[in-house]
Amino acid sequence: MELYDLVVLGGGPAGYNAAEKAAAAGLKTAVIEKNALGGVCLNEGCVPSKSLLYSAKIFDYANHGEQYGVTVTGAQINQSAVIERKNRVVKTLVGGIGMKMKKLGVTVIAENGEITGRNENGFCLKAGGEEICGKNLLIATGSAPVVPPIPGLREGLETGFVMTNREILDLTEIPAKLVVIGGGVIGLEMASYYNSAGSDVTVVEMLDKIAGPTDAEISEILKKNYEKKGVKFMLGCKVTAVENGAVVYENAKGETLCAPADRVLCSIGRRAVTEGFGLEKLGVLTEKGAVVTDERMKTNVAGVYAAGDVNGKVMLAHTAYREGEVAVNNILGKRDTMRYNAIPSVIYTNPETACVGYTLEQAKEKGFDAGCKTLSMRYSGRYVAENEGGDGIVKLVYDKKYSRVLGVHMISNYASEIIYGAALMIETEIDIDSLKELVFPHPSVCEVIREALFEV
Ligand code: NAI
Repeated sequence: MELYDLVVLGGGPAGYNAAEKAAAAGLKTAVIEKNALGGVCLNEGCVPSKSLLYSAKIFDYANHGEQYGVTVTGAQINQSAVIERKNRVVKTLVGGIGMKMKKLGVTVIAENGEITGRNENGFCLKAGGEEICGKNLLIATGSAPVVPPIPGLREGLETGFVMTNREILDLTEIPAKLVVIGGGVIGLEMASYYNSAGSDVTVVEMLDKIAGPTDAEISEILKKNYEKKGVKFMLGCKVTAVENGAVVYENAKGETLCAPADRVLCSIGRRAVTEGFGLEKLGVLTEKGAVVTDERMKTNVAGVYAAGDVNGKVMLAHTAYREGEVAVNNILGKRDTMRYNAIPSVIYTNPETACVGYTLEQAKEKGFDAGCKTLSMRYSGRYVAENEGGDGIVKLVYDKKYSRVLGVHMISNYASEIIYGAALMIETEIDIDSLKELVFPHPSVCEVIREALFEV
């Protein structure tokens, strides 16, 4: 039985990054991954969806160039070519992770891994024909789509009429009518792509707003942008059944309505994967279906850590990267703790939304004497130059007492690339007067944050 300093179960963002960092620090490391390295993020989530959305953006530019003095005729989207390109992007990046693992000397076991128990050396696992043992174990088994017991949903998934994030990224034909169940991140990004590609898209959302915890004003602007593009939003509507060729839902008045569909996307959230690989054999504590971890990513069992979606805290790839690093640092004996107050979240629609930190409501709930400055994105010259009729905004939430940034929320092009600067402002707690001394590039869209700082 081969003995490792660290065995990582799951090769997604939490797992592969932790394995890389551990090996680079000199730990003998193995990672067990039954599918491709990169996990959901690289293979059926973040990266492939961005590849599709970029194709859509080019198509949109071609179709709507007149406002910018450019006329394109005959633009077409070739869905098979879009998917082929997406597959090439994924292959390149997955290959890159494999090469990095090899370079760092990480043992990659491409098998289904199962915890079999523990002995005097540590935690024992079986993967394919191999038996290995780790002094430390990192659980990074990720998450899977929630499939609720809605009549007809499972049957629809079996026939292919209903899709999850996985299948929709491989669709080689554009459905004439697409119904999206759930107006959260996945639902909106896919609604965006298929709307650009020509589908008639309907989003059925249980809550009275889209985009989940996103600031309400920003969520409303996003909705209006997509309504203008032809997406229909059925808010406050709960799906009650999936039938052949339709999604049945109940609206707030209790009326039963029906949305015809050629295909359906089910995107109503994800759940941590904690079963089916022997976790119970170690007595690792779970709560509400997720592994319980402290701020050092430790579970209740000494030597067992959990990072990424499996701990159910913040199901985002970038959170997973950092959590994996925190786990490794603690294994190495360095004290490192995870902080969740400055994690950016982005919806890669067009325009994009990007948020970090508290909304005004959240800041007040947390007891801050908080204020908020809202500015039109049109304060940025570059934004005006690039967004004919753009209605983006930025909201800066700040602590009046200590004059610090508590949150930044925006809807704009490049928002995804700008938001880390705001995260830095929150994380470092630099006071707003000092932030005003920062020189921003001009003309740039990010300058609007400087403008917002000067409003305080
Ligand atoms: P989500 O939690 O973002 O949204 C699910 C939505 O479905 C919610 O708005 C909920 O109210 C609604 N819903 C639930 N049951 C419903 C029903 N019966 N009928 C109608 N609506 C219903 O989950 P989503 O979009 O599936 O994404 C899963 C995870 O993946 C999230 O944690 C997200 O953060 C992550 N993700 C992140 C991305 C990014 O950072 N850009 C991209 C894609 C996914």
